[in-house]
Amino acid sequence: MRQRLPTGLEAALVRLAARRPDRAFDVRWFDSVPSTMDLVADAAASGASAGYVALADQQTAGRGRRGRTWCSPPGAGLYFSYLARPTRHLELVTLAAGVGVLNGIAEATGLRPHLKWPNDVLVGPRKLAGLLAEGAHLGSVAGAVTIGVGLNVEPAAYPPEVAHRATSLRAELGRGASRDELFTAVLEHLADVLDRLESGEVDGILQAWRAASPSAVGTLVTWTDTGGEHRGVTEGIDDSGALLVRTQSGLERVIAGELAWHLS
Ligand code: BTN
Repeated sequence: MRQRLPTGLEAALVRLAARRPDRAFDVRWFDSVPSTMDLVADAAASGASAGYVALADQQTAGRGRRGRTWCSPPGAGLYFSYLARPTRHLELVTLAAGVGVLNGIAEATGLRPHLKWPNDVLVGPRKLAGLLAEGAHLGSVAGAVTIGVGLNVEPAAYPPEVAHRATSLRAELGRGASRDELFTAVLEHLADVLDRLESGEVDGILQAWRAASPSAVGTLVTWTDTGGEHRGVTEGIDDSGALLVRTQSGLERVIAGELAWHLS
């Protein structure tokens, strides 16, 4: 099932290894897989080290947050999962990963997208990329966390029903982008920010996340739960990554759930 790395990707990884001899990535390439999340979870269960990566040209069962599908047609996006093995600050892994992905996109393309809590990558109101973290990140026992990144490189990456809420690098840059360069830049920055988190550099990472997320303050959000419909205005994130929302009944800490964001 595992395939040889395409030539361009191999060359980009050689350049990455030359500039970052301190890093050891184990990148596996696949033409088509159901989901890279499962490949990395399986590798983690077999003892793979942090830095193991599954990257695919196409996913036939790509998944997004909250049970959604992640449309992953061939050649149109960057679809990969990265194995992290954090031992501390597990509650901040996904926010930190968002900062890493943003930094990688900025380095490879010059584009500076925003983050929307918890981990959407947006240009204006439109979604360019999404992150999905699965594993032991919310538990107290440190283990493997699989971090999936899906980034729209071409407009073909999004299905018509979400086209009005999605964007791609081609749409934003007015030109194509090299997936190989994008991948190695995002990979490098993702690993760097996760290392910084592991070494306790929480303040800097939270600061970077806050600076990249203007909608985390002053945005109207609504949501529904067993108690009915709620609305409130965002007041930032706390130091454990929870979103703070000012409602009629006070300040609520939101740690998960589906929020509707009323972005202007
Ligand atoms: C989201 O809903 O915003 C998260 C999308 C995550 C998609 C990526 S693509 C690579 C990896 N494999 C998957 O099946 N999902 C993630």
